[in-house]
Amino acid sequence: MSERARFGSKLGGVLVAAGGAVGLGNIWRFPTEVGSNGGAAFILIYLACVLFVGLPVMLSEFIIGRHTRKNAIGAFRQLAPNRLWTLVGTQGIVVAFLILCYYIVVSGWTAFYTVSSAAGLLTGERDFSAFFANFVASGWMPVAASLLCMAAVHVVVVRGVKEGIERASKIMMPALLLIIGLLIVGSFSMSGFREGVEFLLKPDFSKVTVDVALGALGQSFYSLSLAMGGLCTYASYFSRDTNLVKTGFSVASVDTSVAVLAGFVIFPAVFTVGVNPGMGPSLVFITLPSVFNMAFTQMAWVGYVFSGMFYVLLFLAALTSAISLHEPVTAYLSEETGLSRRTAARLVSMGAGLISIACALSLGPWKDFLIAGMTLFDLFDFVTAKIILPLGGIFIAVFAGWVMDRRIAWDELTNQGKHYTLLFRIWRFLVRWVSPTAIIAVFVHELLG
Ligand code: PFF
Repeated sequence: MSERARFGSKLGGVLVAAGGAVGLGNIWRFPTEVGSNGGAAFILIYLACVLFVGLPVMLSEFIIGRHTRKNAIGAFRQLAPNRLWTLVGTQGIVVAFLILCYYIVVSGWTAFYTVSSAAGLLTGERDFSAFFANFVASGWMPVAASLLCMAAVHVVVVRGVKEGIERASKIMMPALLLIIGLLIVGSFSMSGFREGVEFLLKPDFSKVTVDVALGALGQSFYSLSLAMGGLCTYASYFSRDTNLVKTGFSVASVDTSVAVLAGFVIFPAVFTVGVNPGMGPSLVFITLPSVFNMAFTQMAWVGYVFSGMFYVLLFLAALTSAISLHEPVTAYLSEETGLSRRTAARLVSMGAGLISIACALSLGPWKDFLIAGMTLFDLFDFVTAKIILPLGGIFIAVFAGWVMDRRIAWDELTNQGKHYTLLFRIWRFLVRWVSPTAIIAVFVHELLG
């Protein structure tokens, strides 16, 4: 068998894992949740969720991946005392594939908006609600856009871990961070900067209910891309002397910072123009284009550049996350079935590409075709984000805390006792008691709610 791939550098590993985590969830979902759920009070709760629930699960995935140096299914098979636990790996691979099928559709939207913005279609007085509706309803445009994104992801993944994924992340992640920085500088000049930042940060503890706290936990889980085989697969490419705890903290810090900074870009513009900050896709694809235009009426070209950069930012965030969904499935197929990496990647791209066509059409020409009252797109989102991901999180925590040999976790987290012996004990306590309990609470709450 050929030598297993490795990242060329530690920074490369951090950038790749952070690229998987930083995605559309950071840029549209987090800021709106913060703004409407108590500002800084929500951020504090979110930080606690990341530290005490998300990070322990992330470290568990790192331990499992790096120790076995295998794809998610192979890793669980090696460590599990019986076959049933291998299913945790299987569900990670399945969920990554399913998320890829609809995530790539939204990535396609960001690509379309990037091109539209460059072509000057997002400037001036325009009905952006109709613009978005026409685009989605056209059917062929979103399909073409998602297939193009799938092709881009394929080209990166097929080149391999070091030459493809690490190289691309080393360009895309710094570019993403630079763009966020430039956009924030632009936001300073807006008249609504103060008000926007106040809306985002003013702590209002009266808004923090059990619902809000559980929402924060769900968001932290989604944002860190836990329980879908990606982090576990990426960790299998870390070198033996990579410090897992440090890497985990770095990834979580980059992910959380991008989420908070995105709020500094979005809300000043929203308040400058004085619109109601809506939620999800409508905020990003309908409200923001007109907001960016109007925020810079005196200097139209600044608005043009600002909105162009914003959509490039979204596009980069989406693409790196899509890569992190593709890789675990490709690694599994090529390692477990003996297919070459090229063929495995092709199968994943073609399979997910085909299903993504149906997802894209389900919002346009096929929107009347409903399953359990949902379009195919919404069904994929619901089943993966609300059901399979939390279940996976619970099982990973229980596996790492209760089932797996304690010695393995010790060796991996402390690099054979070199550091963090106290942190190891804290991790073990959190992963045994706190993470599973908290995730079960979110799961039950989301199902009942
Ligand atoms: N973490 C990504 C985001 O915040 O947008 C979303 C995501 C990607 C979730 C991949 C889950 C996943 F498997």
